[in-house]
Amino acid sequence: MSRCLVTGCAGFIGSHLSEALLKKGHDVVGLDAFIPYYDRSIKARNLTGPQSSTSFTFHEKDLRTAELHSVVKDCDVIFHEAAMPGLVKSWSDFDLYSTCNELGTLRLLEAARDAKVSHFIYISTSSVYGKEATGPEDTPLQPFSPYGISKLAAENLCRAFEENFDLPITVLRYFSVYGPRQRPDMAYNILIRGLLEGRTFTMCGDGEQTRSNTFVSDCVNATILAFEKRDVSLGGTFNIGGGQVVSLNEVVQLLEDLTGRKALIERAPARPGDQRHTCANIERAKAILGYSPAIPVREGLQAQVTWQKSMMQDA
Ligand SMILES: NC(=O)c1ccc[n+]([C@@H]2O[C@H](COP(=O)([O-])OP(=O)(O)OC[C@H]3O[C@@H](n4cnc5c(N)ncnc54)[C@H](O)[C@@H]3O)[C@@H](O)[C@H]2O)c1
Repeated sequence: MSRCLVTGCAGFIGSHLSEALLKKGHDVVGLDAFIPYYDRSIKARNLTGPQSSTSFTFHEKDLRTAELHSVVKDCDVIFHEAAMPGLVKSWSDFDLYSTCNELGTLRLLEAARDAKVSHFIYISTSSVYGKEATGPEDTPLQPFSPYGISKLAAENLCRAFEENFDLPITVLRYFSVYGPRQRPDMAYNILIRGLLEGRTFTMCGDGEQTRSNTFVSDCVNATILAFEKRDVSLGGTFNIGGGQVVSLNEVVQLLEDLTGRKALIERAPARPGDQRHTCANIERAKAILGYSPAIPVREGLQAQVTWQKSMMQDA
């Protein structure tokens, strides 16, 4: 069994990943700074699962400033999930994005190099491709939001550490992740809340933008596969998507059907930095990692609706 560091363990995906690793019998060292991008109480709730395990140790530390060598020491693998996500605020708060995503990654890489960590898995995003994200991993990268630019800079930092210091790196580019615990700023979370509470949903753009959504358990499985198949994933970059493409208009219809309610839609122009089409080309992950997404969009959305309903009841 391995000792795994999960940064961003209190976040949406990091908390699911921590739980899955614990379930497989690994020791998990979690790190998170509770960056107030969204409410701390939501992140504290995300952590209740991992914290119920005696194999979980938590460090409330900020990657930008904390002493990291003692955290990284003795870890076999680092899953670097922590970042400032979401593109909208990256236009107005670039300092936070560049420091968390670039400086934070640089400091973690330094600690990983010094501790001779045997595998560093960097979590990247389809946003590094730009307005359209439809091709394989060697498609030219033209991010067009400050968020995408900061994530690509961090990918490049990883590659620089790999080349200069032989730090073993795998890069995973996630495509629009959804499911229970999805961040409250993300479109499906806002849309479902609007439907359940009878509030208006602001649709940016014409709704024909498409997404290659990834259900969170598929994304976590792919991430663990990259770790377990270290012999073939090392040095590689992999797109991780859900295998099904839907437009926002189709998602609205599906959610109306699942909730039995009519969405109240208000129209607004597309936002700067919004991707138009994403369609994850996951051939490489399929062939090399043996990854195969299991959850169709309707089933995944049902799970998210059920979770959001239960959160409303608990509130
Ligand atoms: N959610 C998606 O659809 C999606 C898509 C593509 C890529 N990603 C990537 O996946 C990762 C996880 O995203 P998420 O949606 O779970 O986001 P999240 O905001 O829920 O989780 C990220 C966590 O990282 C922590 N963090 C941020 N900066 C930190 C710092 N300086 N020090 C310590 N902790 C810090 C935050 O407090 C937060 O809990 C990110 O790297 C993101 O770029 C997410």
